[in-house]
Formats: sequence, structure tokens, C-alpha cells
Amino acid sequence: MAKPGFSSGGPILLLLVLSLSISPNGLLLAVASEESKGTAYDAFVHCLTNHTDSPIKGQASSNIWFVHTKNTSYYASILRAYIRNARFNASSTPKPLIILTPLQESHVQAAVICAKSQSARLRIRSGGHDFEGISYTSNEPFILLDLFNLRSVTVDIQNEIAVIQAGATLGEVYYKIWEQSKVHGFPSGLCPTVGVGGHFSGGGYGNMLRKYGLSVDHIIDAQIVDISGRILNRKSMGEDLFWAIRGSGGASFGVILSYTVKLVQVPKIVTDFRIQRTLEENATDLVVQWQQVAPHTDARLFLRLLLQPVTMKSDSYKTKTVRVSVLGSFLGRADELVKLLEKEFPLLGLKKQDCFEKSWIDSMIWWFGFDNDTRVDKLLDRNPDSAWFLKRKSDYVQTSIPRDGLEYIWKKMIDLGKTGFVFNPYGGKMDEISSDATPFPHRAGILYKIQYSINWYEPGDEAEKYYTTQIRQLYSYMTPFVSKNPRRAFINYRDLDIGVNNFDKNSYEEGKVYGVKYFHNNFEKLVKIKTAFDPENFFRDQQSIPVYPKSDSGAAKILQSSLYVTLMAEVIWSFAFYSF
Ligand SMILES: Cc1cc2nc3c(=O)[nH]c(=O)nc-3n(C[C@H](O)[C@H](O)[C@H](O)COP(=O)(O)OP(=O)(O)OC[C@H]3O[C@@H](n4cnc5c(N)ncnc54)[C@H](O)[C@@H]3O)c2cc1C
Ligand SMILES: *[C@@H]1O[C@H](CO)[C@@H](O)[C@H](O)[C@H]1NC(C)=O
Ligand SMILES: *[C@@H]1O[C@H](CO)[C@@H](O)[C@H](O)[C@H]1NC(C)=O
Ligand SMILES: *[C@@H]1O[C@H](CO)[C@@H](O)[C@H](O)[C@H]1NC(C)=O
Ligand SMILES: *[C@@H]1O[C@H](CO)[C@@H](O)[C@H](O)[C@H]1NC(C)=O
Ligand SMILES: *[C@@H]1O[C@H](CO)[C@@H](O)[C@H](O)[C@H]1NC(C)=O
Repeated sequence: MAKPGFSSGGPILLLLVLSLSISPNGLLLAVASEESKGTAYDAFVHCLTNHTDSPIKGQASSNIWFVHTKNTSYYASILRAYIRNARFNASSTPKPLIILTPLQESHVQAAVICAKSQSARLRIRSGGHDFEGISYTSNEPFILLDLFNLRSVTVDIQNEIAVIQAGATLGEVYYKIWEQSKVHGFPSGLCPTVGVGGHFSGGGYGNMLRKYGLSVDHIIDAQIVDISGRILNRKSMGEDLFWAIRGSGGASFGVILSYTVKLVQVPKIVTDFRIQRTLEENATDLVVQWQQVAPHTDARLFLRLLLQPVTMKSDSYKTKTVRVSVLGSFLGRADELVKLLEKEFPLLGLKKQDCFEKSWIDSMIWWFGFDNDTRVDKLLDRNPDSAWFLKRKSDYVQTSIPRDGLEYIWKKMIDLGKTGFVFNPYGGKMDEISSDATPFPHRAGILYKIQYSINWYEPGDEAEKYYTTQIRQLYSYMTPFVSKNPRRAFINYRDLDIGVNNFDKNSYEEGKVYGVKYFHNNFEKLVKIKTAFDPENFFRDQQSIPVYPKSDSGAAKILQSSLYVTLMAEVIWSFAFYSF
């Protein structure tokens, strides 16, 4: 990767740039000629100025309102604000050349037009929760388009609709709904700082999954800035693109500005509980029965399992065991729930005194892990610049794991010592929605989804290697028990281990490796739509939807060689930026 000091290679590189003028690539030519007038930075800013009609306001040391370069005062704090995985907060993490923080939609349009015309890569960030940090890192030189200012949430309770800008957090969405109605909610994730832009793009699920499905199952319109810088809505983008942006993961088709969603109804009072057992308390029996009950019970009931290797503090032998926590969420009252589980899940032994009845919003606050006296406006706290080191992986289970399989898994968890699981039951509404209704394919026949989870606190490569090796080992031990051919994965639990794209001539094949895991039979349709709307593959990252290879004409070959284009863009940008 290019680094400062690169400019000693300047003349040679410039030669390369000029030699490119014989190629049919107009985009790069534009940069090459700007190059002679000034830096690529100047050309880029000039282009932005040209494409936005609002006056340019002075701000700190940068004279452009929404442009931040490495030498301006807010660059570092803006970059760090929405880093949600400390692994990507290192000095070695690749940093954006420029950060753009649009204040209005036309700024996003200008950003796309100008990045494209200058052959610069864009990274799009809404809430920054991507587990692999790909919304704000890249191995190619890049510009970060950070949407945190575009965060309005407009709730129309009469029509049970909300228009939500991509930069809003889930906490803000829940809060705005609660302000207007105590009997409405939305089926999304269980962390208040997650951003709508990435979350909805990848499906989005929470504890109402079995009753109402995913966030994307309730999207009725959207606004996107496409490759030409146009703002399209459902009508103007057409049903294909509208289908694609509801579950294909962000960043492959354009910049989502907003989603319009249909709200769902929730009861005035809902019920939560948490029950814990260790292996010594027959947790294995509990999990065996859970597999029979959780995916098939009343759709109002969501029974999440947390499984964690622990050392028993109370016991002087320091026995290592696995602790299983059952977290229950029921869209109804405690009496009904206790009766239901007495019948269906007797090993749980749920009593009324284990249950907490509360409003839907207080229930969400409990699921977020806050104390139960937390005020609702805590949901508006964006908690910037705070993160653990973490790694996540995912799997889908289609056949119950037999008792001896569970015992084998417990042994491996205890030996490894730190990696935990979250089992999220499917069924209910998820069984009723066809697997091609949206790009998200994991519907009927899935019993539950597994999240592998490991967090750590020590910085550095050594710790990272230790913990990521451990989670990968557990993933490998799980092979016999999970979906196969392909082994499925959840795009919102981004995991670069399952394949990455290098944008060389095998880009389509590379994309297929992770693509069929995330999207199963929907993958080819996504590639078709991608090829139709973004044939040059401008909107791309390590796991974006690839395009079909181009036909084999001589001129097309040069254009098609995205490696060459990447290399040249890198050369130009590094040269231009590191020399100012
Ligand atoms: C603590 C934590 C809890 C989580 N809990 C849940 C949960 O309960 N349920 C669940 O389903 N998932 C959950 N997730 C995963 C989460 O849904 C995904 O990481 C999601 O992509 C985050 O969205 P974001 O906007 O915050 O992320 P970002 O990192 O900003 O973006 C993620 C991806 O989407 C792209 N993108 C972002 N905004 C846009 C846009 N406006 N237009 C186009 N592309 C865009 C990015 O480029 C990137 O590829 C959790 C993650 C964390 C870290
Ligand atoms: C900006 O606009 C002017 C006048 O329309 C045009 O001559 C110039 O080439 C544009 N510059 C960029 C970088 O787009
Ligand atoms: C575990 O199961 C055994 C056998 O069924 C039973 O005797 C014992 O009481 C159970 N232990 C707990 C803590 O439930
Ligand atoms: C709140 O939490 C406390 C302490 O954990 C508990 O005793 C109390 O019952 C809880 N109340 C509700 C309504 O959840
Ligand atoms: C990033 O690192 C700095 C110290 O270099 C620390 O102050 C900050 O809290 C960290 N932020 C995140 C999100 O990890
Ligand atoms: C920051 O860099 C830009 C681009 O080279 C330059 O125009 C500007 O003057 C610099 N600002 C400061 C404060 O150095």
C-alpha cells in the first residue's frame, strides 16, 4: 500500500499516468489532466463546489463545510466517532484521504459524481457497526462518506409509516416512534447505536423476528443516490433495484439516503425474562428441549440462548462449565406466557416471579442491556468513540443438534475458553416469507441462527491473532452441525473469513464464494441487477455484489481490467495526496 514518501516515485508514476491517456478510460484522463493544473484534491473540491448549490461556509481550518482532510481539526474525531470495533482504531489501519460529512442530500450526489469522475473509491458509513470495519477502512485509497448528519426520523402515526434517514440510529427510530405511540414499534436490532443505513441494507433483525420478520420485510419505499448521482425512489429506481437494496448488504448499488417503513403494532404490556443454567444444572437437557420448542412455538415468543464458557466462582475446584442463559421476550402478559411454557418447555420451569411485565420501549431498554431504571432518552445517546476489540461469525442450523453433538461442542468451548454463542430462533413469520421475496434467503427450514462472539480488551496483533484463531477453531468444530453447500452466513454479521473480492479478472468467481453463503439462490439475481445498474463496479468493497465479466473486445479488456484501474487510481491518488 502506498505510504507518505511515495512521491520520490513521482516522475515515473506521472509517466504511467500520461501513458494511460492512450487507454479509452475517460475517467482517468480527467484526473491526469487536472493533475497538471493542481492536485487531485483541488480538482475534487472544485468538482464538489461545482455540484452543490448551497454557499460554501467557512469551518475551522477547512474552508468547505463538509470536507475534512487529514490536516483539518475535526478529521480524527469524526473518523473515530463511529468506529465500533477497536481492531480498526490502530495507527496501522488505513485512513481515508478525505472525510465528507454531508449536511444535505445534494452533498451526497456531489460526492458520488466527483468521486466517480476522479476515480476515487468511496466508503459509505452510517452507524459504523460493520464487524469488519469495511464502512471506514479499505486497502485502496478512499474517501469516507459519513452520513451521521442525515438522521431525521419522521413518524406518521395515522398512516403507521416512518421515513428514516440512513444516518439515524435504531435508538433514535425507537424513541421517535415511542414519542407518538406506546402501541407501535419496529422489528429491528437490539443495540441502540446501530445505524439504519447498514442495518436495513443487510436485513435487520431483533426480538420481534418470529412475529414480524426482518426490518426489510417492512420497507415500502427508499431513496438512493445512484451511480449517476441521481436521487431515485421506489418508482424511479424500479422493482429490481428496490428488491436488491432490501438485504444485499450496503454499498453495492448506491448510497441509501432514506427508507420508508411500515410500523408494526405492539401490545401495551409485554413480558421479558432471563433464566440461567450451567451444565451441572442440566443445561444440556434444556438446550435439547429448546431446539424442539423455540423455532415452533407461538410467534409472539422469542427465546434467545446465550452460551458462554465460565469458571464457577463459588466452587473451590474452579470447575469450568458452560452457562446457558435463556432470554425470553413475549408480546403478551406473564400469565399467558407461564401457562404456554409450562406446557411446551417444562424443563425451563418458568414461574410468574421470573417474569417482568413492562412497556415495549422499556423492554427494548432491557434487551439493550441497560438498567431497568434507564430513561427513554438514553436511546438518543450515540456514545461516540467507544469500542471493544471483537470478532463475529455466523451459521445457520437446519437440523437439531443431537445431545452428544452438544456435549462435544461444550467440551470444545471449555477447552478454547473465551468464545461464546448466541442462538436466535427462527420460524413463525420467517417461515411464511418466501426465500426470494428479498435478497435475504434464510427463511423456511432454518431452525436457528448462531452468532459466534468474542470480545477482548488488549490491543495489538498478538491478542488479535490469539482470539481470532480461537473463534475460527470453534467455527471449524461446528461444521458437522450446520448448513452445508453452501454453509450459510448472515451479511449483517460481516465476516471476511468466508471470502473476499480482489477485483481482478476473477471478481465474479470471488464474489460467488461469499455471495452464495450470504444470499444463496438470490446471488445470481443480485449480480444481474448490479451489472445493469453499476457495470463499472464503482460501488464496491471486499464483499460487495460483483458484476458479470465483460465481453472480450480489445478496448473493453483494458477497461475491464479493474486491477489496472485500481492500481492507476491508487497511483494518482497517493501521488496527489501525499504530496500536499
Ligand atoms: C453492537 C452491535 C450489535 C448489533 N446487533 C444487531 C442486531 O441486533 N440485529 C442485526 O440484524 N444486526 C446487528 N448488528 C449488526 C449490524 O446490523 C450491522 O453491522 C449493520 O451493517 C450496521 O449498520 P451501520 O449503519 O451501523 O454500519 P456501517 O458500518 O456504517 O455500514 C455497514 C455496511 O453498510 C454500508 N452502508 C452503510 N450505510 C449505507 C448507506 N447509507 N448506503 C449504502 N451502504 C451503506 C457500509 O458501507 C457497510 O458496507 C449489530 C452490530 C453491532 C456492532
Ligand atoms: C466546474 O464548472 C466549470 C463551469 O461550469 C467548468 O468549466 C469546470 O470544468 C468544472 N470543474 C470541475 C472540476 O468539475
Ligand atoms: C438434573 O437432572 C437429574 C436427572 O433427571 C435430576 O435428578 C436433577 O435434580 C436435575 N438437576 C437440576 C439442578 O435440575
Ligand atoms: C429492576 O431491577 C432490579 C434489580 O435487578 C429488580 O430487583 C427489579 O425487580 C427490576 N424491576 C423491573 C420492573 O424489571
Ligand atoms: C481509539 O484510540 C484512542 C487512543 O489512541 C482512544 O482514545 C479511543 O477511545 C479509541 N476509540 C475507539 C472507538 O476504539
Ligand atoms: C490542508 O490541505 C489542503 C489540501 O492540500 C490545503 O489546501 C489546505 O491549505 C491545508 N490546510 C492547512 C490548515 O494546512
